[in-house]
Amino acid sequence: MADRIVIHGGVPLKGEVSISGAKNAALGILPAAILADSPMVIDNLPNIQDVNIYITMLEKLGAKLEREGDRLTVDPSGIRFENVGLIVEEATKLRASYYILGAFLSRFRKGCQPLPGGCPIGERPINLHILAFEALGAKVEITEKMISMEADELTGAEVTFDPVSVGATINAMLASVMAGGTTVLHNTAKEPHVVDVANCLNLMGARISGAGTDTIKIRGVDCLHGVTYSVVPDQIQAGTYMIAAAATCGDILVKNIIPEHLEALSSKLREMGNEVIEYDDSIRVIGHRPLRPVNIKTMPHPGFPTDLQQPMGVLMSLADGRSRITESIFESRFEYVGELVKMGADASLRTENVAVFNGVDHLTGTAIKATDLRAGAAMVIAGLAAQGTTEVYNLEHIERGYVDLVENFRSLGADIARVSG
Ligand code: EPZ
Repeated sequence: MADRIVIHGGVPLKGEVSISGAKNAALGILPAAILADSPMVIDNLPNIQDVNIYITMLEKLGAKLEREGDRLTVDPSGIRFENVGLIVEEATKLRASYYILGAFLSRFRKGCQPLPGGCPIGERPINLHILAFEALGAKVEITEKMISMEADELTGAEVTFDPVSVGATINAMLASVMAGGTTVLHNTAKEPHVVDVANCLNLMGARISGAGTDTIKIRGVDCLHGVTYSVVPDQIQAGTYMIAAAATCGDILVKNIIPEHLEALSSKLREMGNEVIEYDDSIRVIGHRPLRPVNIKTMPHPGFPTDLQQPMGVLMSLADGRSRITESIFESRFEYVGELVKMGADASLRTENVAVFNGVDHLTGTAIKATDLRAGAAMVIAGLAAQGTTEVYNLEHIERGYVDLVENFRSLGADIARVSG
């Protein structure tokens, strides 16, 4: 038997959970350290596989790193362009490795690494990243597996993204912070993790204004310094526990978060009939029944986050009526619907990006699999809410992005364990 998470469901989750630093901010801040002319200290770093892969890449590139709990000290002085060939394996595994391209373009005026993989949620091209690099003056060459680029110099430019792209917005900031002149990015992503990377770069000496709005202006500077920076709390991790509270009819206080980052989810949970109480740096969710059906359309921030639509599909499966999810960010992020149907959900795809959920009285535990990171979290929530025993497989997806998921749910009263082999 493969490694799996075994859950005896039906227990209302009660208690408190502390949220770690945001995966998608950490994956932009770690490469930002490459630009510093002195050591960086990054605090509140989540201990997840994607971060560990990034740390390995920085080490192979020549950085000296010291890790103590959630604090990482990075001395980037030893990083050499020639070492880029040493990170091919990791760079292929981790899509966010493409931020090293933007950082290397800034620091070395060149970059070269494998094209990032797609993933079960869609094609995930990087044309918008390349658009920004070329606008700054880079010559970009793509073979079937590699992307390489070179620039005599980097000059500020105007770039418009369509569609809105978190990755391209972050990569364009990394590539332009030390370009000559001013860069203006239009139709930029406004996610909390985008703002966090901009805040970190500004603390390092960059001159970025407008992060969190549709237009970001970057005035090039000559150099960036190492600073101590604490990663923003993980909006998506927090939302996952909030939905779990509603799904199990529990009562959970989600701590160390920024409630404003979760407004889109909080209002949907209230619309369904749950109680959502916001404090300064925490949110309490008390689940109620019956759940009212809702409709969701995923949008760039501050709209409903695509990374929370899969856990919401579980909640909709238990609502008293018909709900609908329209996934407008990725081409296909509904692989998990088939797994919910195995548990007795009455759910189906109306089109490739519209799923309909006719609520049922309960889900029934069975063997299911994680089809991607956020679907994996959704499967665990489904098991927690279901009657009977659920076994969740393909754990590698889940462990990429959630710190201590099983331990946290167990501390909230769940009957859950990770079983090897
Ligand atoms: C980031 O991915 C996140 N990953 C994703 O989270 C998240 O789902 C996504 O943003 C949307 O919020 C990280 O931050 C590491 P995009 P990213 O570029 O940057 C299209 C998770 O579970 N597009 O905002 O890759 C793209 O195909 C992960 O933590 C282009 O067309 O997403 C998509 O349809 C999953 N050309 C849309 O833009 C490009 O050059 C949004 O993608 C880039 C993107």
